[in-house]
Amino acid sequence: MRSRSKQLLLFLWLLLIFVSSAKWKFKSSNHTKYFVESEFCKMPYVDPFSQEVMSSFRTRKLKVCHHDRDLITPEFDSKTKLYRLHIHKELVKGLKANITLRCFYQKITRNDKNLWPDDSYSLSDHRSLTHHLVLPKDVQFLTTSCSIVNKTEESKAIQRDGFAFVQDLFTPKQLEENFKIMNRTDEPKPSVIIMGLDSTSRMNFRRSMPKVSKYVDQEGWFEMQGYNKVGDNTLPNLLAVLAGTSTDRAQKHCNLRNRGCMDKINFIWKRFKKEGYTTAFAEDCENISTFNFNLAGFVYRPVDYYLRPFLYAAEATLKLTSYLTGAYCVGRHLSFKYVWDFGQQFIQRFLNEAPIFGLLWSNSFTHNYMTGATSLDDTFKEYLDNFEKLGLFNRSVVIFMSDHGDRYNSLRSKSSGFLEERLPMIFIYVPPWFRTKYPQYVESLKNNRNRLSSNYDLHMTLQHLLQLNTDSMAGFDPDLQAIKCKTCQSLFFELPVNRTCAEAGVDEKWCTCHPPENINDPKLINEIGEAIVDRLNKHFREKNITDICQTLKLGRIRKAYRKIILATASKPTDPDEHIYTLEFWAIPRGLFEATVRWNKRTKKLTMNVEELSRLNNYENDSRCIKDAKVKKYCICNESVTTSSKSP
Ligand SMILES: *[C@@H]1O[C@H](CO)[C@@H](O)[C@H](O)[C@H]1NC(C)=O
Ligand SMILES: *[C@@H]1O[C@H](CO)[C@@H](O)[C@H](O)[C@H]1NC(C)=O
Ligand SMILES: *[C@@H]1O[C@H](CO)[C@@H](O)[C@H](O)[C@H]1NC(C)=O
Ligand SMILES: *[C@@H]1O[C@H](CO)[C@@H](O)[C@H](O)[C@H]1NC(C)=O
Ligand SMILES: *[C@@H]1O[C@H](CO)[C@@H](O)[C@H](O)[C@H]1NC(C)=O
Ligand SMILES: *[C@@H]1O[C@H](CO)[C@@H](O)[C@H](O)[C@H]1NC(C)=O
Ligand SMILES: *[C@@H]1O[C@H](CO)[C@@H](O)[C@H](O)[C@H]1NC(C)=O
Ligand SMILES: *[C@@H]1O[C@H](CO)[C@@H](O)[C@H](O)[C@H]1NC(C)=O
Ligand SMILES: *[C@@H]1O[C@H](CO)[C@@H](O)[C@H](O)[C@H]1NC(C)=O
Ligand SMILES: *[C@@H]1O[C@H](CO)[C@@H](O)[C@H](O)[C@H]1NC(C)=O
Repeated sequence: MRSRSKQLLLFLWLLLIFVSSAKWKFKSSNHTKYFVESEFCKMPYVDPFSQEVMSSFRTRKLKVCHHDRDLITPEFDSKTKLYRLHIHKELVKGLKANITLRCFYQKITRNDKNLWPDDSYSLSDHRSLTHHLVLPKDVQFLTTSCSIVNKTEESKAIQRDGFAFVQDLFTPKQLEENFKIMNRTDEPKPSVIIMGLDSTSRMNFRRSMPKVSKYVDQEGWFEMQGYNKVGDNTLPNLLAVLAGTSTDRAQKHCNLRNRGCMDKINFIWKRFKKEGYTTAFAEDCENISTFNFNLAGFVYRPVDYYLRPFLYAAEATLKLTSYLTGAYCVGRHLSFKYVWDFGQQFIQRFLNEAPIFGLLWSNSFTHNYMTGATSLDDTFKEYLDNFEKLGLFNRSVVIFMSDHGDRYNSLRSKSSGFLEERLPMIFIYVPPWFRTKYPQYVESLKNNRNRLSSNYDLHMTLQHLLQLNTDSMAGFDPDLQAIKCKTCQSLFFELPVNRTCAEAGVDEKWCTCHPPENINDPKLINEIGEAIVDRLNKHFREKNITDICQTLKLGRIRKAYRKIILATASKPTDPDEHIYTLEFWAIPRGLFEATVRWNKRTKKLTMNVEELSRLNNYENDSRCIKDAKVKKYCICNESVTTSSKSP
């Protein structure tokens, strides 16, 4: 009897599940879900686990960089605030009185004498490394090497390694200053850590990193589901967040490929520094780093703790293993780990000693493969757990984000590719004291989760963290307003419900608010396509690059639609003019996406060539040209062979 009623219960329970899921399916097929749904913005919700994407989605196992044990391990002595290095001789077999282990190290420094200090480094002479060696405080970065020595000879190095340390250099006076800022209760200055994984849409984050996903669904975290990117690749999207500006705007004063230009940009870390913060920045994969890829990088060290000189030297001198995105293993460790270990030390060292601002950015797993992040889930979760143990989440504001989604790999070619590309993940964490002291800001964050927001709003939020008692946008010094978006605002204030892309500083090209409307007029589509390609070729002539870049012809048009512009103010005034998005192949090569205005009466095309997106990898097509923008659409003569053609 008992078991029968159990069975009955089970049956009823299953029936309930079946009915409710069927009901949900029925409902969801009728009602489209949106990340943002307002009169003027309908940003579609994308199911991360759609059949279309999941059918080609595989998880990857983490590939480790070494199987041998560490001959050298560092230890931080919190009393003396010095690092010590231990040598584990016992791991080496066959050592005797006359067969010994000999280790040395070389200090790595940024080479400030070089014209391009970001792309250079200095190595000291070999210095003897003895057991329990206490490192001098001026040694922040080093490589080590150990070999076996007998009477007559020294063997080749049996283990080489690299270490980056966050040396505590505070003077007592500086510490006192730090404490003064940290103990202010009237207007607290929280520590701020920005953690970034490159090229990760909020959908791909959900499907790739279930453990981290669960972590950021905890109390205190807010997912900005209406966050829309403002530029093509990493640089414009991070410039908007970190400096409130665009690449074009920043280039008004100087060319970012010229020495010293990057140093002139008003990065937010400069203001944090001015307000008494200790600052850090670390990023992996030196040759595609945000401020260095086809750019000049920094002449002056931009922050207090800057990892680049170390990773640059390590990539140049240790064994490199390429996997996923270029530099995967640097010597015996993941390039990823150098960044997050550095971040962890920075947090551990200073969380209780100074207000800190840190930017940790990682390309190595996620830049090129939609499945790269799957092998990172456990590792990243471990770092979050470590940060939690260190107390990071007790007092700091943490932003976990990306710059954009997949721009030209397999995800981009799915039907949701347009949205995958434009909707990066972003989570904002505020600690318990903040939630108690500023309930109105928390209320705004909650409401803003499903409002249209952008990088420029995040920039204003960072500004706000330095003046938390400012209770409206009117309270900000006009000089602090994002240059490229005067209507952008801190996310701690409620965003307007009816916000338009223009008001969020998002150009039509990137705007995900406007539903697509199919056009069943092949002639019209073709006409627009031809006009776009003509414009491209004209651009080549104007730039005087016709001798190195192929003249293009229109190939197959993969997708074309008209955008339904929802706000009257953003609509073209001429009823014959509309905004179209076309995805097309060019001949001889190249898959492109253009968002343009086209007037079907006057045949007038309005388009910004530099805004064109390239939807397939162009690394091999564009080696003849340096300019990052031109690379996107120049098919170098030399790269064209008869063997590869566009479909
Ligand atoms: C769902 O959509 C169908 C077709 O669009 C329509 O006929 C039906 O009435 C809708 N059902 C509800 C509950 O809205
Ligand atoms: C090294 O030392 C061992 C004993 O410790 C001895 O047996 C051996 O002969 C020595 N070898 C050389 C080359 O000196
Ligand atoms: C010393 O080491 C070298 C290289 O490791 C080896 O070739 C040589 O035989 C060794 N000599 C002695 C005496 O052990
Ligand atoms: C300020 O805060 C620090 C730690 O955050 C603490 O050690 C110190 O005693 C506090 N008080 C003063 C007056 O600095
Ligand atoms: C960067 O370096 C990696 C590893 O050395 C290499 O595989 C990759 O092709 C390089 N990328 C660029 C854009 O130069
Ligand atoms: C952080 O806060 C929690 C809860 O208040 C507490 O249990 C924990 O000890 C704190 N951690 C640190 C490192 O201060
Ligand atoms: C949004 O716009 C619609 C249409 O113009 C209007 O009816 C509505 O009141 C607006 N909502 C808000 C909160 O302003
Ligand atoms: C165009 O390039 C050619 C060769 O590269 C050069 O001789 C010519 O002066 C350039 N013209 C302009 C207008 O820049
Ligand atoms: C490059 O290709 C274009 C045609 O696309 C041609 O006009 C030009 O002469 C070529 N240049 C060289 C150097 O081969
Ligand atoms: C570029 O060319 C190299 C060498 O031919 C090849 O291994 C690589 O896959 C190519 N990259 C792309 C994105 O096609």
